[in-house]
Amino acid sequence: MLYNMKDLLKVANDNQFAVPAFNICSFDMLKSIMEKAEYLDAPVILEIHPDEIEYLGNHFVSVVRAYALNSKVPVVIHLDHGGTLYDVTRAIRNGYTSVMIDASTKSFEDNIAITKKVVEMAHNVGVSVEAELGTIGNNGSSEGGADEIIYTDPDQAEYFVNETNIDTLAVAIGTSHGLYPKGKQPKLNIELLKEINSRLSIPIVLHGGSGNPDEEVRESVQHGVGKVNLSSDLKSVFFEGIRKTLIENKNMYEPNEIYPIANARLKEVVDYKMNLLNTVGKAKLYN
Ligand code: 13P
Repeated sequence: MLYNMKDLLKVANDNQFAVPAFNICSFDMLKSIMEKAEYLDAPVILEIHPDEIEYLGNHFVSVVRAYALNSKVPVVIHLDHGGTLYDVTRAIRNGYTSVMIDASTKSFEDNIAITKKVVEMAHNVGVSVEAELGTIGNNGSSEGGADEIIYTDPDQAEYFVNETNIDTLAVAIGTSHGLYPKGKQPKLNIELLKEINSRLSIPIVLHGGSGNPDEEVRESVQHGVGKVNLSSDLKSVFFEGIRKTLIENKNMYEPNEIYPIANARLKEVVDYKMNLLNTVGKAKLYN
């Protein structure tokens, strides 16, 4: 079942669970995530970053759509960190059901202006829109972020959502993109999240979902977070699985021999995150 973000997260918000948004950058990742989501009877968000679609090519989305349309679990295909109108229109043309326009490093006024444009365009064709306010940190990931976190301002958040009519808001409450280096311990500002949530009536998105304390992530779901973005926690185990297999089997070259360990590791992470976010078994709520 193919859903847009608004409809998918309405059910999550009403039932106190969140849906993980997994970045996919290869067919094996797509296949493994879908197999695990179906096994767990859990809704899932598949997100593709502009760098990822540049690498994979537009035709990849046809395969993602085929999986979604033939699946018994709800699936959203989402553009992660669209930076330009080109990124957004390309995604809509490719058949994504949700787009992010990330103008968070621009001025507040420019962020509102570009987001409004995207909302008008996307809503006309039933596609949901996510925007970002504040800037999350960056541990050296290509997904972006700032050296210093700029925490989301609740007054601005309320004004921004009312002005733009977006469907979800990504906030900066202490997370960073990428894996945390040794000694850097993230801390989510749950009090700030509560304040932002009390001003908004749309689901909140947590970016930089990898490497955060489980307890804090779980708590964030109780205070309005409906979507948690996860990339590094998946890619790191997936590619480590391939690396290990190839190092231990120097002459191996058949994909059906190389990928199984990586796929199994990836599925373990998907299972763990789905349990953490309380997503398991929730597909049945969508009939
Ligand atoms: P991580 O790589 O930290 O999981 O962040 C992913 C993300 O936020 C994508 O937008």
